Amino acid sequence: MRWNLSPDDLPTAWFNVAPHLPAPLEPPLHPGTREPLGPEDLAPLFPVALIAQEVSAEPTIEIPGPVLDVLRLWRPTPLVRATRLEEALGTPARIYFKDESVSPAGSHKPNTAVPQAYYNKAEGVERLTTETGAGQWGSALAFASSLFGLECMVYMVRASYEQKPYRRMLMETWGARVLPSPVDDATHPGSLGSAISDAVRDAAGREDSHYSLGSVLNHVLLHQTIIGLEAKQQLELAGERLPDVVIGSCGGGSNLGGISLPFVPDAGVRLVAVEPESCPTLTAGRFDYDFGDTAGLTPLLPMYTLGHDFVPPPIHAGGLRYHGDSPIISSLVKAGRMEAIAYPQSKVFEAGVQFARTQGTVPAPETAHAIRAAIDEALAAKEQGEERVILFNYSGHGLLDLSAYDDYLHDRLMD
Ligand SMILES: Cc1ncc(COP(=O)(O)O)c(C=O)c1O
Repeated sequence: MRWNLSPDDLPTAWFNVAPHLPAPLEPPLHPGTREPLGPEDLAPLFPVALIAQEVSAEPTIEIPGPVLDVLRLWRPTPLVRATRLEEALGTPARIYFKDESVSPAGSHKPNTAVPQAYYNKAEGVERLTTETGAGQWGSALAFASSLFGLECMVYMVRASYEQKPYRRMLMETWGARVLPSPVDDATHPGSLGSAISDAVRDAAGREDSHYSLGSVLNHVLLHQTIIGLEAKQQLELAGERLPDVVIGSCGGGSNLGGISLPFVPDAGVRLVAVEPESCPTLTAGRFDYDFGDTAGLTPLLPMYTLGHDFVPPPIHAGGLRYHGDSPIISSLVKAGRMEAIAYPQSKVFEAGVQFARTQGTVPAPETAHAIRAAIDEALAAKEQGEERVILFNYSGHGLLDLSAYDDYLHDRLMD
């Protein structure tokens, strides 16, 4: 019920979805001039290698050896069939999940933190700044920075900083400095958009620093495709040809992109994005150019957005509280190649608890969104008497999110 690959089976190149997109992506625009961005506009914030990946049309991009060496600390990750959950649901569907919770930081985020730290170090950068929502991304970058000898400064959304002190402690253990964001308003719950503004402002003002983003951008989704590439190999070992449906929770789109993009060329495979009803970017947002942050410092990206000044309610899935979405994911949804669905958090925690009580492990609140959708797919298959093959991304564990489960179990959770 578990398919492990050997360290030698680790993919050695990332999958670039660009040549497979239904339409070429519109270019990002300069925040001041609204003209298409050139590589030189991004150079103060990102290393050249990542800027090149952002616009690459190559079908694959080789993973550098030192990055593979670090990824092998926990990769390849297991593919698991959730047979106990299937039994509890009484479904003929086969539910598989890719367990990204086994990384040192407990989520998929180190898959891109490691190459980002590597490329920055290789180009002489000494310090990285970033934002974090639930603290998963910040802890991933703190971990990667410590391995490559970089300083790491994390601006953490204040609502999560207060709800999740253990993530801050984890980041500090890996040597990062952590501040609640927005830094200039101690009464504000914060949002990913405002934390990005704080981190970009910091990096732009210092010669020794670059900025690092944990989601949304093309190069981040590229790095995450290692998830879907491994899953393809493992499904074959499990005797499956292709899944009928691939599901991921969607904050900025990185874990969803990671598991689903390698399946884009497989026309019959349905791809499903799952988001919170309180931050319904794909299901109720508009497709437009918008800033990635609250203050309007970042380039304008073509994406589904709720408006860059939208402040989502402080739900527990802090990593899904983002007003925008990856341009790649947005273009797939716009073209009808990917579906999107939204759930209130009570339904999400119900699914998270059902998973914990059948499969054993406690998922992150973000991950529980994907589990909700996987359960609903399995129940629909049961109703239709169909043997559906469901693959979802188990993007992270919830062992540092237990206060959220406490709120759910003691009726303190609001939708
Ligand atoms: C465990 C987990 N899953 C999902 C997400 C959502 O982010 P993304 O859409 O970039 O995968 C996050 C973000 O912090 C996360 O920590």
